[in-house]
Amino acid sequence: MPSGQASDLPDLGPEAYVRWRASEIGALTERLERRLILELVGEVAGRRVLDVGCGDGELAVALARQGAAVTGIDASAAMIGAAETRARRSDADATFRVARAEQLPFPDGQFDIVTAVTILCFVEDAAPVFREIARVLRPGGRLVIGELGRWSTWALGRRLRAWFGSPLWRRGRFRSARELRGLAEQAGLAVVTVRGAIFYPRSRLAARLLGRFDAALGRAFTVGAGFVALSASKPIRPA
Ligand SMILES: C[S@@+](CC[C@H](N)C(=O)[O-])C[C@H]1O[C@@H](n2cnc3c(N)ncnc32)[C@H](O)[C@@H]1O
Repeated sequence: MPSGQASDLPDLGPEAYVRWRASEIGALTERLERRLILELVGEVAGRRVLDVGCGDGELAVALARQGAAVTGIDASAAMIGAAETRARRSDADATFRVARAEQLPFPDGQFDIVTAVTILCFVEDAAPVFREIARVLRPGGRLVIGELGRWSTWALGRRLRAWFGSPLWRRGRFRSARELRGLAEQAGLAVVTVRGAIFYPRSRLAARLLGRFDAALGRAFTVGAGFVALSASKPIRPA
């Protein structure tokens, strides 16, 4: 994830993402994170997918190209504009709207799959977001979350930046796998898989050397991971 403008997020906008993905470490890191998310999402052809906090629509468009009917929401109008442009250029079956994750503008049980990648790191109270996601999922549907891990050198660096005055990272919240699991369970979801990724520090050389071991590490650990991913399903019958 880049360092730093969404509507109310300082220094985090579509341009920051373009710069991040153009850098060597950004491209590698995004690739590893995306691979993990796509693995947990699984088969999407014919499914109705909601991407919450979709940013510039990279994941939403990738899923639409695999045959899903995708809706993306984001609090930032600039991000939604960038996502619409991306979808138009790719001729992808994806629609986007400005909305907040705490109040999703959809009826109950509307989606087969909900994804939410690095959005909770800017949400102080994540419980209402999990409740909304659980509400819009159909029984048997699946949530896939990707978040900035709490116990990692990346989180440490971002905390230091907050300490030195970064307005973006002052809003940063880093959650452990255990906290994410607890939030999903409180919302009535059953956790299926928890995985880690991005075990190297924020260094191009370290990424080059250690990136190849990342998937194996991520199957064994979440502590040390810059990125934590979780999949959970909505029970067919409420507990
Ligand atoms: C770090 S970006 C991630 C974008 C995208 N999910 C990705 O992984 O490339 C976080 C996004 O979450 C959005 N966001 C933050 N808080 C939100 C909220 N409460 N409701 C909806 N979107 C939110 C921001 O506008 C931003 O586009």
